[in-house]
Amino acid sequence: METAEIRRRFLSHFEQRGHLVVPSASLVAEDPTLLLVNAGMVPFKPYFLGDLTPPAPRAASVQKCVRTVDIDNVGRTARHASFFQMCGNFSFGDYFKEGAINYAFELLTEGYGFKVDDLWATVYLDDDEAEAIWRTLLPAERIQRRGKKDNFWSMGVPGPCGPCSEIYYDRGPAYGRDGGPVADEERYLEVWNLVFMQFERGEGAGYDYPVLRELPAKNIDTGMGLERMATLLQGVDNLYEIDISRPVLDRAAELVGRRYGDDPTDDVRLRVIADHTRTAALLISDGVIPSNEGRGYVLRRMLRRAVRNVRLLGGREPVMADLFERIGAAMGSIYPELVERSAPITAVAVAEEQAFLETLRTGTTIFDLAVSRARAAGSTEIGGEAAFQLHDTYGFPIDLTLEMAAEAGLTVDEAGFRRLMERQRELAKADRAARRIGNLDLSVFRPILARSGPTTFTGYTELSRTATVVGMVSVATGQGVPAAGEGAEVGIVIDTTPFYAEAGGQEADLGRFVFDGGEVDIIDVQRPIPDLVLHRGKVLRGELRLGAEVEVTVDADRRRAVSRSHTATHLVHTAFRRALGESATQAGSLNSPGRLRFDFHALGSVPPSVLSDVEDEVNEVALRDLDVTAFVTTQEEARRLGAMALFGEKYGEQVRVVDIGDYSRELCGGTHVARSAQLGAIKLLSESSISAGTRRVEGLVGLDAFRFLAREHLLVSQLSGLLKVRPDELPDRVSDVVGRLRDAEKELERLRAQAVLAGAAGLAASAVDVGGIAVVAAEAPDGTSGDDLRRLALDVRNRLADRPAVVATAARAGERALLVVVTTEGARDRGLRAGDLVKAATAELGGRGGGKPDIAQGGGSDGTGVPRALGKVRELVAAAVPAAS
Ligand code: ALA
Repeated sequence: METAEIRRRFLSHFEQRGHLVVPSASLVAEDPTLLLVNAGMVPFKPYFLGDLTPPAPRAASVQKCVRTVDIDNVGRTARHASFFQMCGNFSFGDYFKEGAINYAFELLTEGYGFKVDDLWATVYLDDDEAEAIWRTLLPAERIQRRGKKDNFWSMGVPGPCGPCSEIYYDRGPAYGRDGGPVADEERYLEVWNLVFMQFERGEGAGYDYPVLRELPAKNIDTGMGLERMATLLQGVDNLYEIDISRPVLDRAAELVGRRYGDDPTDDVRLRVIADHTRTAALLISDGVIPSNEGRGYVLRRMLRRAVRNVRLLGGREPVMADLFERIGAAMGSIYPELVERSAPITAVAVAEEQAFLETLRTGTTIFDLAVSRARAAGSTEIGGEAAFQLHDTYGFPIDLTLEMAAEAGLTVDEAGFRRLMERQRELAKADRAARRIGNLDLSVFRPILARSGPTTFTGYTELSRTATVVGMVSVATGQGVPAAGEGAEVGIVIDTTPFYAEAGGQEADLGRFVFDGGEVDIIDVQRPIPDLVLHRGKVLRGELRLGAEVEVTVDADRRRAVSRSHTATHLVHTAFRRALGESATQAGSLNSPGRLRFDFHALGSVPPSVLSDVEDEVNEVALRDLDVTAFVTTQEEARRLGAMALFGEKYGEQVRVVDIGDYSRELCGGTHVARSAQLGAIKLLSESSISAGTRRVEGLVGLDAFRFLAREHLLVSQLSGLLKVRPDELPDRVSDVVGRLRDAEKELERLRAQAVLAGAAGLAASAVDVGGIAVVAAEAPDGTSGDDLRRLALDVRNRLADRPAVVATAARAGERALLVVVTTEGARDRGLRAGDLVKAATAELGGRGGGKPDIAQGGGSDGTGVPRALGKVRELVAAAVPAAS
């Protein structure tokens, strides 16, 4: 049975049983406690917690998931993959254990045709209820009880959780021991987890987190592994061999000249390559870009591990473009974007692959240096500092350092390395926390929301109003407080607010709260949980109390400047799409007062002509004085109407659409100017690459744009005064001046070389005979370049070409020194090699060098060693000659 058919049967089974079928959400989790979606229930978490009302009481989905906790098992076991698809059915306070167990059992036996005799179930230690339900379907000996580690499921901490019941399929004695899932999880393959979601878990560690509270309703969350199901129904050994992954596996083998199935160690590596490249493709298609933290790091690791494994299998050529094409072919019917956007997606992977191959090359040089430094210090260990630097500066992964050190017979101070990594992580964490609102525990907001309901936002139409304080949280303690006195920093919730909370790249509003006898300065506004707006402020005077009436006022100048940026960003977005095509989709944006930043997907740099066309167009459109309007509709309708957006977020949600005349239509919750002419001027400043396949433009809007242009104008006036030409003649004049400067430098260079070479004849004549070898060992004037030293040595050698001769030239350059040695054929016939001479002589310069027998060069950091180095060359010739003659 093809994977697509298994998927179809799952969804139709639950659709027929009253479930709303919901598309997969993006892998990029909206949930701040998670980096990546790792279970089918993640997009539904607010419904389980009771924070939002679900669109239907029952839902089903096939959700893209990434899990990296088991990454070391990937490729080794039959059942672990870093990317997988979780088929799930969900009940929000509707059916419970009985429904969940029966629905699953029906699908497995009737829908997929499993024999009842092959099925096993586990239940949580004290879950008599679930066991009783299973007893109506399975014999008692095929129902096992397990503890918290296996049969209590939770989504992160804090998060919803509950006891679970798992269904296993017995693959038969060929796969392992008797005794059910408790004895062997390779033979008994877990195919479905049914979670009876009843509680919320608090902060803590291990499996004994305190259970915070019972959830408002008893829910069901289940997960059936689509790939595991396909493994069983297609009768293959493991989930890399199923229809949607096998072609990638085979192609990977071909690319490194192996055959899958020939060698168990190779097979593990091939599976890792197939797994990691697929995960990478799906991450990139959801907008993740390789970086050194968070999701970007997960992606980077995937790509690098894949490249590493290709190398371990002997592959030296890039493989990503090829493998990504296979992934698109295998998965494109489920995820069309893999094919539709294949060029920009592949470009990200290819660029990272190239960069990493380059890293491997340069890193190896740095690594060699670390090895020689360790050896020189008489140590057999590469220090933690060096390993950290390799990782941090050169992107050299620690596993690679460990492996190469072992090859060189050295160890690595791994503990020291980890300490430095930890310190860096902590610094980064503290930095992030400091930027988040008060770093407050989110659970403190739920009672506020329950008590006073969602905050009403009125800021699209007004900038001030009277409101009531319904919640206050002390930033210092993270606790709810009834009052806040002068100097206190507090998070304030009011019933209705005109303040815009930072979202969608638009910066938060700032402003003032004034109350009877006091005033609060608002310095940030965020939405810690959906529907609740939190104003972070500092009490300037007086004491603010819960229930107080406050006059709240948004800083209107700032708001207007931010709104201008936001509207301008929409224009820029549309203009780029018109100039570069539909694939120029938005990757991110930032709208601050008077300044915008817009990131978008594009291959290669944007030509300056396109940039100036875009700039021209947005200014022209702005001056058409178009109406900027907004309306609310369903996501499906917005898509039909052609609004630009990153769709595929949550199902059934109402969305806001912002129109700028008939020029631009975009999904957006932000604030905008009323008419486009209010933007004034828009000036695009720069265009650059922020990562492979993603470009960034920055620009100024309104008065900021004008001031920038005025400054540039002044600069041009100054230059034109200085060079005494009209502004439009500046480019010609500057290029003329630069050209003449370049000619003069060339001439200077020629004269210098001439001067150096002028000494050549004299040097040749001064050659000293050492046992039949003409030896010239001369110090050139300080500052002579390496090129000139070489030229001089070769010139002298030409003059001595018919004799056995060794010519050494050296010069100091500041603290440093350079040395070149050349030999004639006659000298080489007598065993004298330039490479050897340089190697020995540069030791006197505190450095290293080497080269070929006829010419070699080197250098060092000790300029005072030049006479010694030259003496060394003479000595070595003298020592070599009697032996050679
Ligand atoms: N959320 C449950 C799991 O991931 C179904 O196993």
